[in-house]
Amino acid sequence: MRLSGVFRFAVILLTVGVTWHFARTYLLRSWRTNSFRNIADREIKQASTKPSKNKCGNAKPCSKDHFAFKIVSGAASVVGPSMCLDDKLIMSNIKNNIGRGINIAFINGTNGEVLKTGFFDMYAGDVAELLEFVKPVQVGYMAMIATYDDPATKLNDEARKYFTDMGSAYANKLNFRDNWVFLGVVGMQIKSPFEKHIKNDGETNKYDGWPEVLEMEGCVPRKRE
Ligand SMILES: *[C@@H]1O[C@H](CO)[C@@H](O)[C@H](O)[C@H]1NC(C)=O
Repeated sequence: MRLSGVFRFAVILLTVGVTWHFARTYLLRSWRTNSFRNIADREIKQASTKPSKNKCGNAKPCSKDHFAFKIVSGAASVVGPSMCLDDKLIMSNIKNNIGRGINIAFINGTNGEVLKTGFFDMYAGDVAELLEFVKPVQVGYMAMIATYDDPATKLNDEARKYFTDMGSAYANKLNFRDNWVFLGVVGMQIKSPFEKHIKNDGETNKYDGWPEVLEMEGCVPRKRE
């Protein structure tokens, strides 16, 4: 680009910048109408939903001896769940490895490597497939779980107990179309702090036949060998 071109560009940029700054200051100082406040609100909202620099887009960073994680449940029967660990998308619509029912990822808690992922249709599927999938996994593996649509119709006591043994307080109450996100450890036997659930309830549901989407993020300690 020629120097004069660069100069003209800089002038335009400056003019636009000054005008914008003026308009903004002027409007902020002198007009307090509702419509303007709405715009301001929208700006604040946009600023706060800007992708964060933290792993998985989380609000807070994690220390070195922790993994950052985010688990999002499905939305009604329309949008599938997603799971992120240390900025790595483990299960999602885009990865095409999620489905109706219970979505599970097993992870080596020392190095964060994914052992395997699976999804199990608990409306029309067979809980035996879920049990076959989870049973061989060694005690101590980390598990991330997210539900999509209906996670409970086919769930039996054995599967519920398996999740309870991972530290879930809710698995034994999980019902038709409830939403549930959970992070636990195989055979941990103590309650996990990483769990959220919401009941399918016609009175309070966000969508007609389904409750609100659940989102859970945080830092989980790495396992020491
Ligand atoms: C998990 O990863 C660590 C570190 O690479 C390894 O030593 C360990 O054997 C793995 N655990 C299992 C159960 O594979």
